[in-house]
Amino acid sequence: MICPSCRAQVGPRDSDCPNCGVDLALATALAERQALASIPARKDSPYFADVILPRFGEYLLRTGYIDARQLEVALEKQVEFEAEGKRTTLGQVLLDMGVVTREQLDLASMQQVQELQNALRQMNQRLEQRVVQRTRELQQATEKLAELDQLKANFVSNVSHELRTPLTKIKGFSALLSDGALGPITADQKNALDVTGASIGELERLIDDLTRFSASARGEMTLRPTPFSLHELADTVVRSTRSRNGRHEVQILSEIPASFPRAMADVEKIKWVVTQLVENAVKFTQAGGRVTLGAEERGSRVRVLVRDNGEGIPGDRLHELFEPFHQLNGGTTRRHGGTGLGLALVKRIVEAHQSKVSVESEPGRGSTFSFELPVASA
Ligand SMILES: Nc1ncnc2c1ncn2[C@@H]1O[C@H](COP(=O)(O)OP(=O)(O)O)[C@@H](O)[C@H]1O
Ligand SMILES: [Mg+2]
Repeated sequence: MICPSCRAQVGPRDSDCPNCGVDLALATALAERQALASIPARKDSPYFADVILPRFGEYLLRTGYIDARQLEVALEKQVEFEAEGKRTTLGQVLLDMGVVTREQLDLASMQQVQELQNALRQMNQRLEQRVVQRTRELQQATEKLAELDQLKANFVSNVSHELRTPLTKIKGFSALLSDGALGPITADQKNALDVTGASIGELERLIDDLTRFSASARGEMTLRPTPFSLHELADTVVRSTRSRNGRHEVQILSEIPASFPRAMADVEKIKWVVTQLVENAVKFTQAGGRVTLGAEERGSRVRVLVRDNGEGIPGDRLHELFEPFHQLNGGTTRRHGGTGLGLALVKRIVEAHQSKVSVESEPGRGSTFSFELPVASA
């Protein structure tokens, strides 16, 4: 920093200039005022500082220390001095003219500083009020969002309920038709009804996802943890996924040995989670690819892994996967269907087990989804 009076170097803690001895705060305030006073105010658009920092001459006029004529003369004199290369303050000119005493000038300058301080305090107060108001607005927006989330969950819940009722009838009657209970049917009709049956199964599973999602969104998730064999769970999932994806040429296999330690969790929910991960892996892997279910021991915990060598996920989009209704690749997902709810639910279920889902992925090379569970104590 530099002393505004003698231009000597001063330290940040100095209150007086070590060179000329001037009070630095006062000298700075005076220098500022001088700088401001030297900027001509434009008639049409006032210089901003003039609005909040009234010029000293105008202040003296307004407070009655001088009159308009005296100010005019003093300003003219100041301009003359300036033209001669002598820089001088308005206060000095007024002193020299003898219209004010030094005491009056000091008093006026102190009063002006006080006025400025008050203005500053008011501005701070207004600022604080604005912060309070903005905070309130933000709070209201957050509440609104939570309400919308609730509405969405209710909507999903109502729609899935409404869908299930007619679907039950469709399912029942097509089963009766297919079994020949309503009269004999031809082989072609039987084939058509089988396809109908498979589609009904798909619809049922979609409605299931929606129902689970809305239940979990309302915070309705109860866990019934029991010890279970990961080997058996993986085998079941592999078999059911294989049969559902009969024509899909992706290899699905489990590497979890029968001797693997038993885990402790809500087995039905974990089976659902693993099924979702395996189905995604199959869905996003081209023909000839492979999906592997594995598990690793980690002390008192086990890690369950679902690996694929499919299309992979770009690193910058990994965080989106677990958002409800988010699907990354419009093309593939439209081809394979899905609601974009699977991973959102997977996340909720795994987190309800005090765990976390991890994803590692490389576009074009494949993905690995995994999560940990506690080992069942012996
Ligand atoms: N194994 C995977 N490989 C590549 N992308 C995946 C994989 N699993 C999930 N994704 C991406 O994450 C999105 C969300 O998955 P999910 O929530 O299960 O919804 P859905 O399966 O209904 O599309 C998928 O649409 C897909 O874009
Ligand atoms: Mg899915």
